Amino acid sequence: AAGAHVAALVVGSGYGGSVAALRLAQAGVHVHLVEMGMAWDTPGPDGKIFCNTLRPDHRSYWLRERTKAPLNFFLGFPIDRDITRYTGVLDAEDFAGITVYQGRGVGGGSLVNGGMAVTPRRENFADILPGVNAAEMYATYYPRANTELGVGTVNPAWFDSTDYYQYARVGRKHAQRSGFPFVFVPDVYDWDYMEREAAGTVPKSALAGEILYGNNHGKKTLQHTYLARAKATGRVTVSALHRVASVSPASGGGHGGYTVVIEQLDTGGAVVATKTVTADRVFFAAGSVGTSKLLVKLKATGALPALNDEVGKGWGDNGNVMCGRANHVWDATGSLQSTIPCAGIDNWAAGGAFAEVAPLPTGIETFASFYLAITRNPNRASFRWNSAAGRAELDWQTAWKQPSIDMAKTIFDKINAKEGTIYRSDLFGVYKIWGDHLTYHPLGGAVLGRATDGYGRLAAYPGLYVIDGALIPGNTSVNPFVTITALAERNIEAIIAADL
Ligand code: FDA
Repeated sequence: AAGAHVAALVVGSGYGGSVAALRLAQAGVHVHLVEMGMAWDTPGPDGKIFCNTLRPDHRSYWLRERTKAPLNFFLGFPIDRDITRYTGVLDAEDFAGITVYQGRGVGGGSLVNGGMAVTPRRENFADILPGVNAAEMYATYYPRANTELGVGTVNPAWFDSTDYYQYARVGRKHAQRSGFPFVFVPDVYDWDYMEREAAGTVPKSALAGEILYGNNHGKKTLQHTYLARAKATGRVTVSALHRVASVSPASGGGHGGYTVVIEQLDTGGAVVATKTVTADRVFFAAGSVGTSKLLVKLKATGALPALNDEVGKGWGDNGNVMCGRANHVWDATGSLQSTIPCAGIDNWAAGGAFAEVAPLPTGIETFASFYLAITRNPNRASFRWNSAAGRAELDWQTAWKQPSIDMAKTIFDKINAKEGTIYRSDLFGVYKIWGDHLTYHPLGGAVLGRATDGYGRLAAYPGLYVIDGALIPGNTSVNPFVTITALAERNIEAIIAADL
């Protein structure tokens, strides 16, 4: 309602926002969680909440007339198709040099992601979050995040026997034959449920090609973990299809809290109402891109002019790069593939690359091995407010992916040489080997200890905090959401103890 007052307003319902909502509510604080995407709690006419990866419909993409699949070609042919513009679950947000994929809806990235829940090796932590006490993180906050998120690992005996992981076993064999350390990758997918899918006793999700546009079963998204517990406190109100447009000091500053302007959207993306609330505290949890865009806009347009000059800086892509390899006929990868990756090749120490053996769930035998590599790419970009265009822009350049390609090649050139195989060149275009135009893992833009203090406080404005992936300076050496969650747990504990 107009003029409403809330104790804590959380912008965005991904990992950072969900942790903040739960812990604040448990501490007795009333929380208003504002999410620009849909609630994703109601089945469509087909009885399903989310659409299938192989048959994308209006539910797939955020406000697009045509799909923009990360893997956009097959056998040299484009696979994208027209869809009705709708507030779908996956945003492929285009910047000048990179497309950044993000989840949209209550649960943020947990709705669309692969659920790979990886705690970085401790020896890499000082590079990931310099200034954060590693002993505390590994003794308390990483274990807390893993428990709350419901992280588990595939049963190795089932992995070895099921048709659905033939592609991953081929990936393991090739990694080991070239002398690379092979690891099982933990995931928040319910592994027992997946085994029941294979047995045919429950509806299939991971084993029916669901990923990217949502999983109807089996995945422990934030809706099933943090957000369910947050709602159970009775102190959290969620507004879906509501986008925060502005935050500024109420009544000219002091201790009057903050005026938050919120736009209500319809499913075509149009603003149907504008609402104003006053909040004592605002937690920016709109994701690395969302939080960065908001903060640079609010600083440049005079809503929060005292934000420091580090706002918008230190953005990285977690070194994401993809590629495929063409196997010999004796290394078939299977027409049945679980969409949930569970196998990885760890060459971080020697070559700066950690590669996941990813599925290519086309429903036919492709003889392809497909990989998503996370690499130690040193390039960092900045968001800047373009006042003429009225939008925040990111200055990432396509050529900045070259270090990632070089690092991924430390793994795949060697495997190709050993196996006598070649790269696939038909997955990202015509004769294009590397998926170097995108990231799934945006990080940074409001870096801990630079744009904020050591716990995410925007120091110029008491009561304003950043609590999402924007805090992490561009790289986590593995998939990021466990680290985002653990850091949010650490920061909110300190904030509740000291500020409330
Ligand atoms: P997150 O992006 O989760 O949440 C931000 C929320 O804020 C969104 O719901 C957004 O709609 C909302 N928002 C933005 N602006 C707003 C505004 N102005 N007002 C209101 N709401 C606003 N990671 C991993 O560890 N393992 C994996 O397997 C994968 N796989 C993967 C696959 C794909 C396809 C994607 C796109 C991403 C992944 N990731 C991943 C990445 C992971 O999902 C990501 O790092 C986290 O979701 C980021 O968490 P945050 O809390 O920072 O933001």
